[in-house]
Amino acid sequence: MSAKKLSNPVVAIVGATGAVGVEFLGCLEKRRFPLAELRLFASARSAGKTLEFRGKKLPVRELKEDSFAGVDIALFSAGSSTSKRFAPLAVAAGAVVVDNSSAFRMDAGVPLVIPEINAEAIASHKGIIANPNCSAIIAITPLWPIHRRNPIRRLILSTYQAASGAGAAAMEELRESTRAYLEGRKFTPKVMPHPYAFNVFSHNTKIDPATGYNEEETKVANETRKIFGERDLAIAATCVRVPVLRAHCVAANFECERPITPAEVREILARAPGVRIVDDVERNYFPMPVEASGQDEILVGRIRRDSSDPSGRSIAIFSAGDQLLKGAALNAVQIAERLLA
Ligand SMILES: NC(=O)c1ccc[n+]([C@@H]2O[C@H](COP(=O)([O-])OP(=O)(O)OC[C@H]3O[C@@H](n4cnc5c(N)ncnc54)[C@H](OP(=O)(O)O)[C@@H]3O)[C@@H](O)[C@H]2O)c1
Repeated sequence: MSAKKLSNPVVAIVGATGAVGVEFLGCLEKRRFPLAELRLFASARSAGKTLEFRGKKLPVRELKEDSFAGVDIALFSAGSSTSKRFAPLAVAAGAVVVDNSSAFRMDAGVPLVIPEINAEAIASHKGIIANPNCSAIIAITPLWPIHRRNPIRRLILSTYQAASGAGAAAMEELRESTRAYLEGRKFTPKVMPHPYAFNVFSHNTKIDPATGYNEEETKVANETRKIFGERDLAIAATCVRVPVLRAHCVAANFECERPITPAEVREILARAPGVRIVDDVERNYFPMPVEASGQDEILVGRIRRDSSDPSGRSIAIFSAGDQLLKGAALNAVQIAERLLA
């Protein structure tokens, strides 16, 4: 299966009505993805809805076990349990699955791919290709070209994660709770564990009592090691939610094998795919979620020496990226493009 290239495939989107799902439609349309047919699936709640693609209204159907007959590429974005149940059925029906959930990311036989970093891993797939965690994609796409030039030995990441990373319902909760706060009304959170408006809280995933890290922090570290092919890379992440509607930010401090200057990093990033430097020191103008939203590229700035390391081997940067696009739908569509003949 791995060598098979597809021409004019039938494409299915699973989770088409979700925050990532609708971006899949936008990416396929914007990038003129050559397909014979697009089929949309979601839960029974959405059956009968329509979504627009290339000027036509397409029906959303309830996902069922027999939904994948004739499908060549299935883009999954409907949560881990749906992927675990339905992705093997899609593969058995002959489709290649590009999965956005965390279900298969750390499976040894499943390539975990950011095309700017390890596109060659796609060739080894056995039916499922995993799309990395959104924070991991935003954090490490800019780091890879630096790592190739001067290996990163230690990495500290602090994320500032938007509501969109938790799906459409979390975005609505941020809007609603902000309105309620401003109007002095009581609001009881339903999606997030804490008040979201005008607040910052530790990422809403379980903490591993053995390590003290939450699941998001653990995913970012493990997935980075897998994508970079560096099993022993030293990484510590702190992941938090901020009351931003869309686009994650990441502060990264990294120590390289040899001395490195901010000028060298700037020069590397200026030629890096998928990255745009926004680093205007005079105007104090750096990457911001409002400007990263809707953009394919990850914005990178605040490129400076990490002053906590007198050896000159450490750098600090700050990035912002649209995690519904590069952190999810766009990255998956880029992977699907590599499956084409
Ligand atoms: N948001 C991000 O930035 C991001 C980034 C990377 C990866 N992901 C992953 O992508 C997945 C979806 O995230 P999201 O943010 O788009 O969530 P979302 O806005 O809550 O959307 C979830 C989608 O899944 C569908 N769905 C839920 N249960 C289903 C079922 N049993 N059968 C079929 N479809 C079902 C929903 O359909 P209904 O509308 O009918 O309920 C909806 O289309 C998650 O696995 C998430 O971890 C998200």
